[in-house]
Amino acid sequence: MYNQIKEAMSVLKEKSEIIDDRYRLGYHIMAPANWINDPNGCIFYNGKYHVFYQHNPFSEKWGPMYWGHVTSKDLINWKHEIIALAPSKEFDVDGIFSGTATINPENNELVAFYTGHRWINQKDDTFEQIQGYAISNDGINFVKPKNNKIDIEVPKDSNHHIRDPKVWHDGHMWNMILGNSTIDKRGRVLLYKSKDLSKWTYVGVLAESNGELGYMWECPDFIRLEDKDILLFSPQGINEEGEKYKNYNQTGYVVGKFNYDTNKLEHSKFYEIDYGHDFYAIQTLKDNKGRRIAIAWMDMWESIMPTQEDGWCGAMTLPRELVLMKNDRIKMKPIEELKDLREEKILDNDNVFVSDKKNLQLGWENDFMELNLSVEGKSNFSIEFNSDNDEKVELQINLLDRYAKLIRNYETKGIEESYRYTEISDMNNIDIRIFIDSSSIEVFINDGEYVFTSRMYPDKNNRNIVIKTKEKINIRNMRVWNLKNIWQ
Ligand code: FRU
Repeated sequence: MYNQIKEAMSVLKEKSEIIDDRYRLGYHIMAPANWINDPNGCIFYNGKYHVFYQHNPFSEKWGPMYWGHVTSKDLINWKHEIIALAPSKEFDVDGIFSGTATINPENNELVAFYTGHRWINQKDDTFEQIQGYAISNDGINFVKPKNNKIDIEVPKDSNHHIRDPKVWHDGHMWNMILGNSTIDKRGRVLLYKSKDLSKWTYVGVLAESNGELGYMWECPDFIRLEDKDILLFSPQGINEEGEKYKNYNQTGYVVGKFNYDTNKLEHSKFYEIDYGHDFYAIQTLKDNKGRRIAIAWMDMWESIMPTQEDGWCGAMTLPRELVLMKNDRIKMKPIEELKDLREEKILDNDNVFVSDKKNLQLGWENDFMELNLSVEGKSNFSIEFNSDNDEKVELQINLLDRYAKLIRNYETKGIEESYRYTEISDMNNIDIRIFIDSSSIEVFINDGEYVFTSRMYPDKNNRNIVIKTKEKINIRNMRVWNLKNIWQ
């Protein structure tokens, strides 16, 4: 363990006294205390799942970035490990930014690729970003080789935003992509190739904004589902377009085919992958069962984060399995293992009728819950997760008008009312699976065809879950479970 990690670990230990645990999560990845953002280096290595994350061990606000670390045998029960990477070199002195971990098949070492960040002048937002790497034999302790900078060609029309390496082997060569922005402020992804993970050749721009897709593309990931090549990324600066892109920043994908002659991705338009308020910087891993599993940061830049008052901030979403549907859109299925979180079933009813005359009040006693509802018939209805003072998250399902909407309002916490929206396909029945953790909600419609992920801040003394409709609906079945608190 190098000194910078020792120091950070001791501060973290002192500070892991959370001031107030009202919003602490029960079954999501979070740090012992203080700030976290993007998932990094997600990988299945030596029999365990590893998720690293952007972490400031010294404060509940973003600052110098380290890589925090959790491991799990089952993607459900997570264990905090020591901090994996800390700033220690001149080029990474102000932060170990996002990146990947990959296994070197020659020696089974885990290689972490990251972006070294160094401020030139923080006030003017001028900085230098250089890619670096570190190595581990056990997946826990990393060393940075003496010269661990990665020497790459940076295209002349690039500005200083160049970061978030994703590295993978495609069967022929190693590939590295980087999020980048041009001098004239268009987001794009650069592609590099290597035979041996050490010498990298710049091959060109994999994909780029036509001017409408934002000024910077962060945290790219390039995957194959079925026989399609898919670029996942988080573009910053897309303008709102009708009901689309109503978030501070977006995360989504384009689907296409990689052309090995031109080294370009010929692709579809951009689709959002999650329609909630708090889903950013998605990263994936392929596990030993062949599944493509995705995790994202469950917060959003520029948004109000009420847990900062309590001495912590940030979490990861639940792991989801990515599946490409026939219409070339990605489904994010809650992974099968999530059923292992279930403790007692607190509700199990068939054929529950709700009408304009009678709401269904479910109560809301527990912080950690899963709700499954199957609703029959084409109708419009809503599920409200409310607190006494009109503060709430409301999920509106409009099968008649073919849209779903998640409205959120926590004015007393400084979060003004806003909503996120998606069109939905024509359907007569709908299945809804909802995971409530103390301060988060994840809604999976039809097994992940449409997903909403948002943070919520209910007043625990006055909570209620209410199903409402202006018509009549039949809830064919409704099951509610209490879920386990993995951190206890
Ligand atoms: C995305 C991001 C990355 C960067 C990291 C810094 O959320 O801005 O582009 O590497 O966060 O913490």
